[in-house]
Amino acid sequence: MNSTEMISVNRLFDEDGILAGDILSPSGVLLLPSGLDLATLRSARPDAIELLKKHGVDSVPVKKHEPVTAEEFQRLVSTLSPPVVRLNPLLSRVIAHQMGVVYANIGNREMRERGVRSLFSVGGTLSSEVRRIPQITLSLGEDAERKLDAAFHGVNVALLAGHIACRLFPLWPDFIRSVTIGGLFHDIGKAFILSSGYSSEILKMLRDDRITQTHPLLGEALLRDAGVRNSDVLSFVRSHHEVWDGSGYPDGLSGENIPVGARIIAVANVFHNVLADKGEGKKRSDQAISSVIASTLGKFDHFIVRALLASIGLYPPGSVVELSDGRSGVVLETRERNLVRPRILLMTGLGKQRELAPEIVDLRTDPVVSIRRAIDDFGTTPIPPLAASGEGRSSVLFRKYRLPAKLE
Ligand SMILES: [Fe+2]
Ligand SMILES: [Fe+2]
Repeated sequence: MNSTEMISVNRLFDEDGILAGDILSPSGVLLLPSGLDLATLRSARPDAIELLKKHGVDSVPVKKHEPVTAEEFQRLVSTLSPPVVRLNPLLSRVIAHQMGVVYANIGNREMRERGVRSLFSVGGTLSSEVRRIPQITLSLGEDAERKLDAAFHGVNVALLAGHIACRLFPLWPDFIRSVTIGGLFHDIGKAFILSSGYSSEILKMLRDDRITQTHPLLGEALLRDAGVRNSDVLSFVRSHHEVWDGSGYPDGLSGENIPVGARIIAVANVFHNVLADKGEGKKRSDQAISSVIASTLGKFDHFIVRALLASIGLYPPGSVVELSDGRSGVVLETRERNLVRPRILLMTGLGKQRELAPEIVDLRTDPVVSIRRAIDDFGTTPIPPLAASGEGRSSVLFRKYRLPAKLE
């Protein structure tokens, strides 16, 4: 178990660990968010001790890093077989081929069971790679012959979903693993329906019909049947077509009642569908991405959408960004074709400047300044100056998630 202890603010930079709770000022302003790594804090906010003292905070709860047990280490090593030093471009291809074989024989129960078991451990390898290489989504697999499209879709959704999980929950390796594996298997039920020997006309009809809506349930059942007992993976596959506003299926869950891993896979799924369109002559463009943002409003967890877009260098409204000149601000609006050069409300208002009118930078007309990076990753990246924030910022930067439900 992780142990939490109260650390004197004076010793904050002598310790290693993670903040075990939000640090608030007496008036309730969020000073530091729960989950922040002290090593990150040291480099990003050398003035953190002064800040806390100024607000009368003299000790903070810190969770110590848990040493890895021999058992966990063994489990980790066993998932890396054969050992992979860095994500080989061939890895996703090999996994997709393996998946293609499973899909081709999905009607054969024995082969399906064996295939699912081996893909499950391969999914573990993939998630280790996702955690180790932050740019992993840039090596998304493609298949020139399109024969393995469904399999590549699974691999790419696994990579994207694992990547998002890793950005949002860097301290939860088991969760990242379950999301990656869930991404890999999310459409296995669809593969089963498509392999069932129906004529192409019937399949075309089924595709638009509610019958295809059974594929998440079928997927869950197939995985259970193959011996998968990881309740997170099962629930992510079951719920990957639930929609934020409650209009999804199979259970009509809404908002945060949808398992967070399923919400992540849903976003990765829609995003990969946009990317995959390019094979049909439609270029992936800012416009396409922009339409995804528009269509995702109210349908997907916007925090997750933003995490994904920020990780590929796009900044929808509400993103907190750092500019190339060191200033930071909130993205106000983005227009089609201008997603990378939006208008930004600067975080000014420090002390005596507070009475000044808000300063807005329009990157479309200011070619010198550009966005250096987004800074709304929970717990993983430096945070901007806090005194400048005002009230609204905490909801942008530090929205909380409950742990994924353990169904047991
Ligand atoms: Fe699906
Ligand atoms: Fe899908």
